[in-house]
Parts: sequence; C-alpha cells; structure tokens
Amino acid sequence: MSAEALKEQAAREAIKHVQSGMTLGLGTGSTARYAIIGIGEMLQRGEIRDVRAAATSVETERLATQGGIPLIDIGAEGVDLAIDGMDEVTNTLDVIKGLGGALLREKIVESRARTFILIGDVSKRVGRLGEKTPVPVEILPFGFGATQRDLEALGCRAVLRSADGTPARSDNDNYIVDCHFDAPFDPPEIAAAISQIPGVLEHGLFLGMAQTAYIADGERVIRLDRP
Ligand code: A5P
Repeated sequence: MSAEALKEQAAREAIKHVQSGMTLGLGTGSTARYAIIGIGEMLQRGEIRDVRAAATSVETERLATQGGIPLIDIGAEGVDLAIDGMDEVTNTLDVIKGLGGALLREKIVESRARTFILIGDVSKRVGRLGEKTPVPVEILPFGFGATQRDLEALGCRAVLRSADGTPARSDNDNYIVDCHFDAPFDPPEIAAAISQIPGVLEHGLFLGMAQTAYIADGERVIRLDRP
C-alpha cells in the first residue's frame, strides 16, 4: 500500500469524530489534506452541517475553501476538535510537528482544542522524540543569529531553514530553525528551555496535547489513546 493510501486511511478514521455543529481545527500537511478533503465531502453529501473551521496555514485555508468548509478565526472559546498530522509520535502521544513550517498556527489552534486527534502512517512512530527528525522552532527574523546561538547552547545544531540560499519564511513571515539533537533529550526540559529564549515564537514539541492518534500500518489503522 502506498504512503498516500496510508495517510488517507488514517484521516478517514479521524473524520468519523466530526459531528454537525462542531468547530474544527484543520491541520497542515500531506496527511491533514486528506482530512480536509474528507470533511468537505461529508458536508457536500449532507452527512454533517453547521461545521466551521480554523485553518492552521494559508494552504489549509485554500483547501477548506475549495471543500466548502466555512472558516473562522480561533476565538477565546477554542475549537471542539482538531485533526492534524505529525512528524514523530511516541506511544504516549507526544509529538514533533513543524517540518511543514506551520507549527506556530498549529500550536495556537491545537492547544485550544477540546479534542486533538493525530493522523499518520506508521513511519511517524518513534521510541523517543528526536529519533528521526529535528525540532523545528519558529523565530523572529530580528536578531536571528543571536536566537540561533542560544538554541545551539541547548546542545543541538540549529540550522536556519532556507530555500535557494535565502531564509525560508513561514506564513507569519518569520524564520524557522531546525534543531538537530544528536543525543537523546528530555522533551519537557528542552521545550521549557527553548520557550525561554528571546526571539523564539514557538517550538514543534507538542507534549501532552493529543488525546488520540490513528496510525495506518498497511494492515490496519491502529488507534492509540493517551494514557
Ligand atoms: C506542518 O507544519 C507539520 O506540523 C505537519 O503537520 C507535519 O509535518 C506532518 O506533515 P505530513 O502529513 O505532510 O507528513
């Protein structure tokens, strides 16, 4: 089964949680895309109604609009249900996100979701965070060299994400630094330390946020619930 088919399978399980009248948080990336398309199809078939959604990126806004999903700004009341992919997930549903560059808006929306569901294929499962991917961090362009140096002081290689030799910009017009840790690290400790650095806007460690994950492994879609 192709990776795309696995992503779609996981997304199809998650969207079964969507009910009429809900406010949603729509994630970003190639897996979240299947959830957005699926929710649009459910609306068009009349299986659900009165659903509105906060999008976590410009691309997600575009996909939602294309699917006929009305958009809202995230308000003080948060959202009922957020669905998103991840770059790494542990058995206790701690996650690294942000390789797609949308981590700041994702954190704003998903931290305010009453239920947060992760979706992905089995390649995203890890024994510990940082095993395969760096920790993305969104930073302010102003003084970025100093912010980068402070990140490196935490024991990582802090690589400024770039495209064609110029720093890549997030949807919020900021820079992203990918923090490569060669040695295992303590996620809550590193998350707290990164957050304290002036110039850091958000990091891609999403700890203790998700309740459920659907992970497609080719034979079935495994459901994991946070203990
Ligand atoms: C976007 O910033 C990311 O957090 C994505 O949600 C994450 O990288 C998963 O993306 P894919 O589904 O494309 O692997």
